[in-house]
Amino acid sequence: MDIDTQTRESFPTDDPAVVTCGLPYANGDLHIGHLRTYVGGDIFSRALKRLGQDTAFVSGSDMHGTPVAVNAAEEGVTPESFALRHHEQYETTFPQFGIEFDNYGHTHDETNVKMTREIVDELIQAGYVYEREIPIAYDPAADQWLPDRFVNGTCPYCGAQARGDECDEGCGRHLEPGEIETPVSTITGNDAEYRSREHQFFAVSDLQSYLSSFLDRLEGTTNAQNQPREWVEGELQDWCITRDMDWGVDYPDDNDLVLYVWVDAPIEYISSTKQYAEAVGTDTFDWEAAWRGSEESLSSTPSIGDTDENTLTPDIDTGGEIIHIIGRDIIQHHTVFWPAMLRTAGYTEPRAVMASGFITLEGKGFSTSRNRAVWADEYLDEGFHPDLLRYYLATNGGFQQDVDFSWSRFRERVNNELVGTVGNFIYRSLLFAAREFDGTPDVELSDSVEERIETAIDAFTAGINDYSVRDIGDSAVKLSQFGNEYIQRHEPWKLDNDDPKKQQVMRDCIQIAKAVAVLFEPVTPAAAERVWADLGESGDVHTVGVESALAAPPQTFGEPTELFEKIPEERVDELTAKLDDRVTEATDDSNDDAQSAGNAETESESESETAKNTNESRSESDMTDIDPIADDRIDFEDFEELDLRVAKIVETEPIEDADKLARVVVDVGVEQRQLVAGIRQLHDLDDLIGETVVIVANLEKAEIFGVESNGMLLAAGADADLLTTREDADPGTSIQ
Ligand code: MF3
Ligand code: ZN
Repeated sequence: MDIDTQTRESFPTDDPAVVTCGLPYANGDLHIGHLRTYVGGDIFSRALKRLGQDTAFVSGSDMHGTPVAVNAAEEGVTPESFALRHHEQYETTFPQFGIEFDNYGHTHDETNVKMTREIVDELIQAGYVYEREIPIAYDPAADQWLPDRFVNGTCPYCGAQARGDECDEGCGRHLEPGEIETPVSTITGNDAEYRSREHQFFAVSDLQSYLSSFLDRLEGTTNAQNQPREWVEGELQDWCITRDMDWGVDYPDDNDLVLYVWVDAPIEYISSTKQYAEAVGTDTFDWEAAWRGSEESLSSTPSIGDTDENTLTPDIDTGGEIIHIIGRDIIQHHTVFWPAMLRTAGYTEPRAVMASGFITLEGKGFSTSRNRAVWADEYLDEGFHPDLLRYYLATNGGFQQDVDFSWSRFRERVNNELVGTVGNFIYRSLLFAAREFDGTPDVELSDSVEERIETAIDAFTAGINDYSVRDIGDSAVKLSQFGNEYIQRHEPWKLDNDDPKKQQVMRDCIQIAKAVAVLFEPVTPAAAERVWADLGESGDVHTVGVESALAAPPQTFGEPTELFEKIPEERVDELTAKLDDRVTEATDDSNDDAQSAGNAETESESESETAKNTNESRSESDMTDIDPIADDRIDFEDFEELDLRVAKIVETEPIEDADKLARVVVDVGVEQRQLVAGIRQLHDLDDLIGETVVIVANLEKAEIFGVESNGMLLAAGADADLLTTREDADPGTSIQ
């Protein structure tokens, strides 16, 4: 079978699926920005289940490593008690947001420690682990080795301030021990020195051709498919898998070394699945079928002597559908190191990696040290239903796009879409049907509405197969929109109860409402449950399949309750002011940005979410390619002749036969304009709708590929990275 041309079977498949979320480090409080990937994962796994795919949704807390050790040391407690405390907190918080893992374990539990030992043994057995002497940062004053976040310094690749294990402020690369330049100890603040030390390495470079074919097969978001190319196809380095620490899983037969946290952390994906299977019984979920597949596939585990490429070609049909949902800062770990481990130890490779964009708060980064965050607990204390946040996080942009959270935008989306569209349609339909007919009129569903619901189910299914959390959510909102138009158009309130037309319209509307409940269950599970109860349905909306969207609703039900509540404008002012006050307060007695940015002692995990965001694309462009700045100066009048405007993209369409070009319609405030732009290298056209861009409005018209272009979109570099505004300037605003 030619695997290069083989495309995978679409969902639902006959194999068990495992949906995982990146393990949160057990080292701090959760804020709503952290929830984005977990909400995304929960929606995706619920959607797969609605589709009838046998699915386990698992994760756990990441207990080891320096992110935990550094924070525990600061508090003066043991890493174990520190991590366990946070683990318990996460275990409670996730379900409060409807994020319901089938199993949520942690990396320090017995299952994972045992599984880690087994897998590491398999790597050793296969001959892929070797010892090498390397320089390790050492703090002579503290008389201590300085792994990972115990050391800061300069990134050897881009020169940015970086942590010992990652260039979190610059190029985003994972850094190997010994790589960081001008190392400084985060324990004492002293300069660190490099001392030689024996460590264990995993020969990732021997898996280059495997990894490259793996990337060809990998599904998910395009950032996860494309970003690792340069690492895998460039000079692939071997990976140091041991650390000089006490806290972690011991390296076999060595008392001084523990495994690098990134070895035992992803293994928790497997351990957590196993725990789930053990809890429900392997008849209900066969974790080995998911992670190991059939017996034959096990014998294809490579050994270091294998030179024949074919022995490195797995049968991708064995095992289950493994889908990893992560933040985009950990793509490299999930598309290089992890599949290399899985491959060597004989486990199923990931089918897809979905990497989310970063999230900002009112246009700026979340900052835990400056208390610039909306904390998970706080959100609930303010009395907002978790479904509202889930909807916002899932649909306020594509999954891989960066998303901003603002209270005013939150209010807008809730009031217009959840209340105005979905809630309104369902409430008015159920209320009217209950009052006029005591439930669903006894007539058949009309063909046209049946077809419309089928279209919605198709859109939902396509959302899953395209790994688009937003499309999954949109399918139900669009169906509600249709429902509103439908009831409005037929005005059943003007008809008599014995008029067959009235009975037909209400029969159709109740079916649409029921279908919305089923298709919206992944995004707003609690609301779906309410509609289900209001309809008098007996089953559980959390276990039904999409086909029940078309099954007849109960004939009798009473008056419904309202589904969502409008958020008054004053609440937005109040919440925004609260946030501002807190930031001012915290900033007064804290360090400034520059100081805290590279300091592991004051910053916790969450900082990196947005810091990395601004610099991310730098790693993709080659710094040496930068043109010199033009010598010729222009005067201000020359500049003023350019009419640069803010515009909003309203329509996009690829131009046939031109790989990079698109026809784009933008709203420039006063009018709509059609432009031709070469922007398809970097951007997914569907994701661009609603984006703010900058255009040259007074450029001569041109005809490109037969399409008139009336202006020009501004973009950076050969990849055409679109320019936008930092806050939300209205279309038509002049750029000065
Ligand atoms: N704890 C890591 C982080 O927050 C993620 C671990 S994901 C896993 O960056 F793959 F290791 F599980
Ligand atoms: Zn760097």
